[in-house]
Amino acid sequence: MKKKVVLAYSGGLDTSCAVRWLKERNYEVICFVADLGQGLGEGESFAQIEGRALAAGAAKVYIKDLQDEFVEDFVLPALKANAIYEGKYLLATALGRPLIAKYLVQLAHKEKAEAVAHGCTGKGNDQVRFEVSIGILDSKLEVIAPVRSWEFKSREEEIEYCLMHNIPIDVTKKKPYSIDRNIWGVSIEAGILEDLEREPPEDAYLITKSQTQHSGYPKYIDVAFVKGIPKKIDGKAYKLKTLISHLNEVGGTYGVGRSDLIENRLVGIKSREIYEAPAATILFTAHKELEALTLDRELSHFKEMIALKYSELVYYGLWYSPLKEALDAFVEKTQKHVTGKVRLKLYKGNCTAVARSSPHSLYKKELSTYGKEDKFNQSLAEGFIKIWGMPYQK
Ligand code: ARG
Repeated sequence: MKKKVVLAYSGGLDTSCAVRWLKERNYEVICFVADLGQGLGEGESFAQIEGRALAAGAAKVYIKDLQDEFVEDFVLPALKANAIYEGKYLLATALGRPLIAKYLVQLAHKEKAEAVAHGCTGKGNDQVRFEVSIGILDSKLEVIAPVRSWEFKSREEEIEYCLMHNIPIDVTKKKPYSIDRNIWGVSIEAGILEDLEREPPEDAYLITKSQTQHSGYPKYIDVAFVKGIPKKIDGKAYKLKTLISHLNEVGGTYGVGRSDLIENRLVGIKSREIYEAPAATILFTAHKELEALTLDRELSHFKEMIALKYSELVYYGLWYSPLKEALDAFVEKTQKHVTGKVRLKLYKGNCTAVARSSPHSLYKKELSTYGKEDKFNQSLAEGFIKIWGMPYQK
């Protein structure tokens, strides 16, 4: 009997070759296509992706819309934690992998497959994220990474292989970049971007407008949160997925959320990647602003250290680790009072918080004011400073 493998299938060149390649190694290939809001190419549909998988030799194709689960269970905890890797990357790709891994394992169980497979190369973080997650969820499953071990040395060789086996791949499309996209953001690398001394060309960006296209006027938006969860834009309630899509559109129009990062990969390589994350940037800015208003100093500073660790855990593929789970519990506890409203100004690629309010605000104007309503007892400061500085006096 043939062995069964569940492959994470995107419809692209690598995973299409992988279907055939696995089949030639006597596997029955079941393709799993995760819809994380990747925004299919022009004229492309999931039906077409399914057709391509079947033409490549898949026995079966599962397509699942995971967008709601992605934003609720992966994006939202990361937002509450203010997770940002190396100060510039809001982790869109990294957050998607453990979710795809979860479904690969689930499908493998359902289909009684002994193996799962992915199309990652041996140089990136995604292979680590998939394999560590799969290992945590079911260590008995074999993991196959065809791209890491196969004989093809170039994109051209892969195309030739597809043509030879009648796999319908769009060979006319020149692919200048490697792109991974979902509803939380776009990651773009390779091609001309490998030249660190060059500014990324405009055509590298997918969802944000360039400076020259920006409107000359700023745009103001109000984002309301309840316990750390974004609920409303300009007073109108949205489901999280819709709220994010909406902010991607608005933010993208104002060029918000671009970043250009020389990044430390887990496998020890430094690489240059550019990112677009309009909604993520707006929500991250607003959420941090509301925390500034509602968290006390010690909690706030401690939480910053947690944010750093949290971003590493996500980036390193340790989503399902005990530490990440424990940090989630901590972060959740901190969100109790993160309720209120933040006004953001979007202007020529910038996103800044310009106004904020909360029923749990810790700001006391009668203490901070320099006006005549001042209630702060300044005479107490003298004794406080003496005792505070005492240990250091010579
Ligand atoms: N460097 C990012 C990460 O490790 C994105 C990886 C995928 N990027 C891509 N352009 N295909 O999370």
